[in-house]
Amino acid sequence: MSARFKNPVKGRKGNSTLLAMVIFISLVVCLLSNKASALPWDIDMYKQESYKANEIARAPAKGTVPLGFTPFKMTNDEAGEKLKNPQVFGTNSVWRGQRLYNANCWACHGKTGVGDGPVGLEGSLGVPNLLTDFYKNSPEGKVFGVIYNGGSNMPRYGFKFSHAEIWDIVNYLKFLQGKDVGGMKRPTQKVAKEKSNK
Ligand code: HEC
Repeated sequence: MSARFKNPVKGRKGNSTLLAMVIFISLVVCLLSNKASALPWDIDMYKQESYKANEIARAPAKGTVPLGFTPFKMTNDEAGEKLKNPQVFGTNSVWRGQRLYNANCWACHGKTGVGDGPVGLEGSLGVPNLLTDFYKNSPEGKVFGVIYNGGSNMPRYGFKFSHAEIWDIVNYLKFLQGKDVGGMKRPTQKVAKEKSNK
């Protein structure tokens, strides 16, 4: 009777040791596998061909042109010498340029173009003040080239905008640099001052 009573207890002890071992081994397996302790089959969906957020699109296959895409192969300096801005400088173009600038360029170049966006203020990229005479005198074609091709730390946008959209942004930059257009007010420096006081 007493033996019968003790056996189940012994059995339970044996079970809990086994359980502890299973938990320990599972923990080791989990910790040794990569990516936030996920098991290899847990990240099948993560490792896939899709584009990640903000990833730049792959260049088109050699010798092909995507639909609706106008090829452009000039260096920024060449573009500065050869390209003429075909987009009439006026409220419509500047307004369209403003929308694109505020969505894509503001983070580095700041609302007014002085380079005081949150990324520009951080400092390590060397975002220039686009309102200096040097950049005011930069040929419009070169600015087109810079936006299309990018620069050393400046991202390229040729894959993202149509040529007309890039010229709209060029016109908006001219507006920020002091070229007036009817009915539009230049953004003020308020944001910049608040930031630099911190
Ligand atoms: C990630 C930060 C960043 C963003 C976003 C960015 N730029 Fe720039 N930009 C730079 C830096 C840094 C430079 C200085 C030159 C270089 O490093 O290539 C620069 C330079 C420039 C210049 C001067 C180039 C020259 O040599 O004449 C222009 C014009 C310009 N950017 C326009 C734009 C426009 C328009 C956009 C949005 C479509 C934009 N940038 C978005 C960082 C940025």
